[in-house]
Amino acid sequence: MTARLVVLISGNGSNLQAIIDAIVNGQLDAEIALVLSNRKAAFGLERAKKAGIATHYHALKPYHDQGRDRCAYDADLATIVQTHQPDWIVLAGWMHILSNEFLRHFPNRVVNLHPALPGQFPGAHAVEDALTAYQRGEINHTGIMVHLVPDERVDEGPVLATAIVPIHPDDTVERLAARMHAVEHKLLVETLQQLK
Ligand code: GRF
Repeated sequence: MTARLVVLISGNGSNLQAIIDAIVNGQLDAEIALVLSNRKAAFGLERAKKAGIATHYHALKPYHDQGRDRCAYDADLATIVQTHQPDWIVLAGWMHILSNEFLRHFPNRVVNLHPALPGQFPGAHAVEDALTAYQRGEINHTGIMVHLVPDERVDEGPVLATAIVPIHPDDTVERLAARMHAVEHKLLVETLQQLK
């Protein structure tokens, strides 16, 4: 059965593009019902529009301006996402921590991609943190994981897939990040292919 996806993004959307390409190429039996961003300028929104996919910009600032908290934002986010009746919600570079106000509506249905191995380098600076740890001699590789998001913990939850990414002596953050992105694109699509 063709899986319905809602993809949440905040930025460039290269992982979104990998999903779009895999669907177009027939590698992934899915349809993207909606691409939603919390950032207006996210290039991923352009990628979605180009592919004929519905987009939505859900801004946090109006909630802050009205003295409403992020739970109110997350509750409305859940309503918007629910309208599209997704089988899976894919966090592909989504840089907003989801509260239970959102997650309780989609148990075992939210999939996150994170550029680190389980238990290592949670948060927004995983690539930089891995390179620093490598330079200190603490690790010799990093990796990617795709996992379910059961609760508000950041970059934690049942692991669906992992891939190792070597770190090289001459790596910069940019070089390592580029190598990691290539692995992410493959791992995310492969993982989505397996979801039941
Ligand atoms: C990826 O590295 C992802 O793992 C992280 O944010 C980045 C998003 O990249 N959570 P893109 O927007 O898909 O190009």
